[in-house]
Amino acid sequence: MDDDEIAMISKEGCIFYDFDGNRHEKESMHLDWEAAMTSRGGYPHFMLKEIHEQPDVVAHTLLGRVASNSVDLSHELAWTPEQISGWKKIHFVACGTSHYATMVAARIMEEVGNFEIRTEVASEYRYRNIPIGPDTLAVFVSQSGETADTLHAARLAKAKGAKCLVVTNVRGSTIHREVEEGLITPAGPEIGVAATKTFMAQITVLTLLGLYLSKLKNDLCPETEQRIVAALMDIPAKLASILDREKEIEAVARNFADARGFFFIGRGLAYPPALEGALKLKEISYLHAEAYPAGEMKHGPIALLDKDLPVVALVPKNDLWEKTISNIEESMARNSPIIAVATEGDSDIGHYSKNVIFTPETEPELFPFIAVLPLQLFAYYIARQRGCDIDMPRNLAKSVTVE
Ligand code: G6P
Repeated sequence: MDDDEIAMISKEGCIFYDFDGNRHEKESMHLDWEAAMTSRGGYPHFMLKEIHEQPDVVAHTLLGRVASNSVDLSHELAWTPEQISGWKKIHFVACGTSHYATMVAARIMEEVGNFEIRTEVASEYRYRNIPIGPDTLAVFVSQSGETADTLHAARLAKAKGAKCLVVTNVRGSTIHREVEEGLITPAGPEIGVAATKTFMAQITVLTLLGLYLSKLKNDLCPETEQRIVAALMDIPAKLASILDREKEIEAVARNFADARGFFFIGRGLAYPPALEGALKLKEISYLHAEAYPAGEMKHGPIALLDKDLPVVALVPKNDLWEKTISNIEESMARNSPIIAVATEGDSDIGHYSKNVIFTPETEPELFPFIAVLPLQLFAYYIARQRGCDIDMPRNLAKSVTVE
């Protein structure tokens, strides 16, 4: 429905009117969603079902957008290299989990191309005096396509002449109708209030968008494109392999269900997944969880650490491994228990933590894809152990349509 409409639904169909009683003729639209998608399908919670859907969601999101290790979005975005050269800056605007997806995207794009990017939460973007104009590509990311702040931010950017693009899971949602161009995340309906599979679909689409933009700008080295696309195609199998180890993650979570709260740390590409992992915990277990760039801990938060405040450290085997390990050591010195999310085969990590969640190796840029799923499960099992209402957490709404 559009704004200011009334619908009358009967066995014969649906008739739309405006508030003066005039009939509105509307075109019907086919949504590729089936009734079975809205059932729990044998899982105790929608959230768990949706976590398990993620390998398929990534595969589905890649479908038709990659071929022969190359990305092609030309059938969805009719952009020319000339047009793109006019966009000097990229703004990503979103709320909640969608915002963290844009932070992942920005970091991946920094690695693969040469972009001037800013990521902003929509409620700030709308009210600050950020320069926006025809030289701006503004990308609005919203699972529901109905979040009031994101919608208003999109209207603002449009009015200021920015080129606007929306990434949404709901075809025909308000933002999708209002913003000229859109990319759909084909994750299917997400019922659990805490977003899981839509985050995964968003980071998949946004990674492809980054590669595509970079390619049209002639900035993308063909080897990088092939390497990343090939690694993206392997993500579904890697996610499935993490799901095979669900029991191990559950066991780690059980050890910490009585913690006072959690600290999450990560550097570079590991920082946005740390934010998302902390958000999942807050949302469904009502425990305080805070994520920090690991190197920033010493500037304040370290004062909070003690034996009752575990630190979840995202420590992939990459160039920053030693740096993060030194932050783990600082935390250990304050008696904080460490839960490490580390790369399979990392034989040294055992010196620092008895609670290790191993993730499969992938290309360094794609670490967020495989880091988030174990953190979703970690939050889920802590919330379950604490008897929380996982699919409908208190005080939260799936879609926030008011300011
Ligand atoms: C609410 C939901 C979050 C979601 C956020 C943004 O707060 O509880 O899970 O991330 O809105 O929603 P959107 O639909 O715009 O992605």
